[in-house]
Amino acid sequence: MASSTKNTPWNPGSWRSLPSLQQPVWPDEGALKAVESRLSELPPLVFAGEARNLTASLASVAQGNAFLLQAGDCAESFNESSADQIRDKLKVILQMAIALTYASGVPVVKVGRIAGQFAKPRSNMTETVGGVELDVFRGHMVNDEAGDEASRRPDPERLVTAYNQSVATLNLLRAFTKGGFADLSQVHAWNQEFVASSGEGQRYEAVAGEIDRALRFMAACGIDLDAEGSLHNVDFFTSHEALILNYEEALTRKDSLTGDFYDCSAHMLWIGDRTRQLDNAHVEFLSGVENPLGIKIGPSATPQDVVTLCERLDPHKTPGRLTLIARFGAGNVATFLPGLIDAVSASGHPVIWACDPMHGNTITSQSGKKTRRFDDIIAELTEFFAVHRSKGTWPGGVHIELTGDDVTECLGGADEIGEGDLGDNYTTTCDPRLNARQSLDLAFRVAELLRS
Ligand code: PEP
Ligand code: CO
Repeated sequence: MASSTKNTPWNPGSWRSLPSLQQPVWPDEGALKAVESRLSELPPLVFAGEARNLTASLASVAQGNAFLLQAGDCAESFNESSADQIRDKLKVILQMAIALTYASGVPVVKVGRIAGQFAKPRSNMTETVGGVELDVFRGHMVNDEAGDEASRRPDPERLVTAYNQSVATLNLLRAFTKGGFADLSQVHAWNQEFVASSGEGQRYEAVAGEIDRALRFMAACGIDLDAEGSLHNVDFFTSHEALILNYEEALTRKDSLTGDFYDCSAHMLWIGDRTRQLDNAHVEFLSGVENPLGIKIGPSATPQDVVTLCERLDPHKTPGRLTLIARFGAGNVATFLPGLIDAVSASGHPVIWACDPMHGNTITSQSGKKTRRFDDIIAELTEFFAVHRSKGTWPGGVHIELTGDDVTECLGGADEIGEGDLGDNYTTTCDPRLNARQSLDLAFRVAELLRS
């Protein structure tokens, strides 16, 4: 990537004059404009102060005093928004967080890929279905995955539907996380059920047993586990890829307290591996909002690219502002990550290093389904921890695609899903997700990595 030549002032629409990759061609510009103007009048999903709180929590992660768990759907679906589905996704993230908290001995910052994760970057712009070339599916914020021309046509009304579903989702998340559902003893009891009910789970009995003793120890010391607020309420933040910039701009608000701009569609936004070009629209847009940001870093990113992105997106070197989400694929981490860590450390940018062990490990099964092997996912995580250990840097977090549903999309894991099982319950609209039991299996494995 060339170094930035940009010096015109930022405003929420300054991205519009720059090349913008991965954008749909909206058939009716007037309809799009009307939707943008409606969205810009609607209440923000999150408040600037909440985004600042997340930056503060992430600053602890950057300093090695906390761990980041960012997890949720690859692509949320307009057809999967029941209360049970949202609850089950939150439940598995909370369960993972307890194992990680215990193992790391530090707070776990919980960020969902949820309440806005409706748009997908794609490798190919079209695909052939039944001999007909169609626009590719870009997520429910843009079009529908059904294999006909009308379904694939981008419809700006979908931006409003995405907003409304995000509002409803976030409302429920706030109720669950502050209304008793996140009760530590309860979440721990769910983990014990997992440990008792799966062959692999028994491997984790030691950790679960220690958590149990820790809870009993607290109770014995006179801490009333039922009355202690911090054991009932958790802070849970939202995030998504800031891909469709018309939506992100329309939800950007100037904070009345600080005068700074925040993208109030989520607490945290990230830039995908396909849209992180320095002089393009996505980097321009996100450079001007104060939310904490993620940047996906794949094998094509050079150390110079990454340092220049850090300068552009975090000129003041604010801890918690930037999370670099490495996604190289199993077998590749030792090739790419050390040089990036060296360059970023030398630049003085206090980034969080997180590992996305999903997107570098997507394969096609014999039956033609996109899938991922649980063992490859664990291998990439293991390599990530090993590199950080050798560098003396903090492996700050993990970024996982999962669902609380009992899907069969990834191979292996606690229930040993095989090639022949993939068809049983394969419901993702985009990438293959870990199911609840595979996610817990992963969390306990990461717990082992954190402790070793
Ligand atoms: C994603 O996180 O869903 C994604 C598309 O990732 P990446 O940009 O890393 O490919
Ligand atoms: Co994905």
